Amino acid sequence: SIFPAIMCGGSGTRLWPLSRALFPKQFLPLVNDTSMLQDTLLRLPENSKEAVFICNEEHRFLVAEQVRQLSSSQGTILLEPEGRNTAPAVALAAINALEKDKGALLLVLAADHVIQDTAAFHQAVEQASIVAQQGKLVTFGIVPTHAETGYGYIKKGNVQSSGTFDVAEFVEKPKQDIADEYLASGDYLWNSGMFLFKASRYLEELAKHRGDILENCQRAMKGVEQDLDFMRPNKADFLACASESIDYAVMEKTDSAVVIPLDAGWSDVGSYSALWEVCQQDDDKNVLKGDVIAQQTTNSYIHSQNKLIATVGVDNLVIIDTPDAVLVANKDKVQEVKQIVEQLKADK
Ligand code: GDD
Ligand code: MG
Repeated sequence: SIFPAIMCGGSGTRLWPLSRALFPKQFLPLVNDTSMLQDTLLRLPENSKEAVFICNEEHRFLVAEQVRQLSSSQGTILLEPEGRNTAPAVALAAINALEKDKGALLLVLAADHVIQDTAAFHQAVEQASIVAQQGKLVTFGIVPTHAETGYGYIKKGNVQSSGTFDVAEFVEKPKQDIADEYLASGDYLWNSGMFLFKASRYLEELAKHRGDILENCQRAMKGVEQDLDFMRPNKADFLACASESIDYAVMEKTDSAVVIPLDAGWSDVGSYSALWEVCQQDDDKNVLKGDVIAQQTTNSYIHSQNKLIATVGVDNLVIIDTPDAVLVANKDKVQEVKQIVEQLKADK
């Protein structure tokens, strides 16, 4: 059976000031009335088991509450005392799933993705489970729509079976000129950060390539403390873990990686321009949220939580008003918002 493992540990810094350390983007209703975490749950394949969430200790009540709003149970919530990136987070979920079912298929998802075509997503998962049963580590590769520099890229290798390719190469967040080449070549897909594999196969590959991470995670799960639906892996053992992404630790190194292309209106909503793309735009190509009057204003994302925002004669802007911070940015420069967050941290 399929065991969904939903990673909720991100900080969403490029969506500051809407997204905050204590309330990051995956918990916000930015695209729909439900949060992105809730949307992730609502689109799970019907036949999947109860989801496991992997999140930071300080977000435990947010996760529990948002899950409870949708179902009678809050599911299992694995708590990290501090993030160690995705390789250890997935290892905790894999160890947990194996205890329930030796043949568990782990469907690794992120809590902060938008997928417009749920049927296409379900179909890709179904196709992936066939190859995952055979021991492959499947990554879902998004058919790119533009030369995005905020994503990793996967080069398609030989065709394995219909609709499944070997992975020729992983390239994490390339520069603009390289991303342009990749898009033009048609040989590359975006790394979605969604995976499907047997939990046992992930742990085998982790043992091969990052035995240190596996050992620390196994020790941490041996000393796990259960408190209602919260599971706390042993703190010292987990903190001893190296911080590494699943991409670097396993997917780039294993010989068993395959990629299944997915064309389903996917976005990780990493920036305000991405958020503007996935939201419903008006005739002037604006997305206006809250108390906003926009005259002769085009191509803009304007979001007020607090005051009235009025604009005249502007184009391509992002304006965000929150009780304690206002952001005004050129929509083409919104990747740099994370530098503001870095500066704020440094000034503290
Ligand atoms: N539980 C947990 N713990 N989750 C984490 C942690 C952690 O320490 N670190 C990250 N995550 C979750 C985030 O919530 C996010 O949903 C996902 O893992 C990916 O992490 P990001 O930090 O958002 O990575 P990224 O966006 O810079 O890049 C990755 O994702 C892109 C697609 O969204 C890479 O895999 C790229 O190659 C990929 O294109
Ligand atoms: Mg991300």
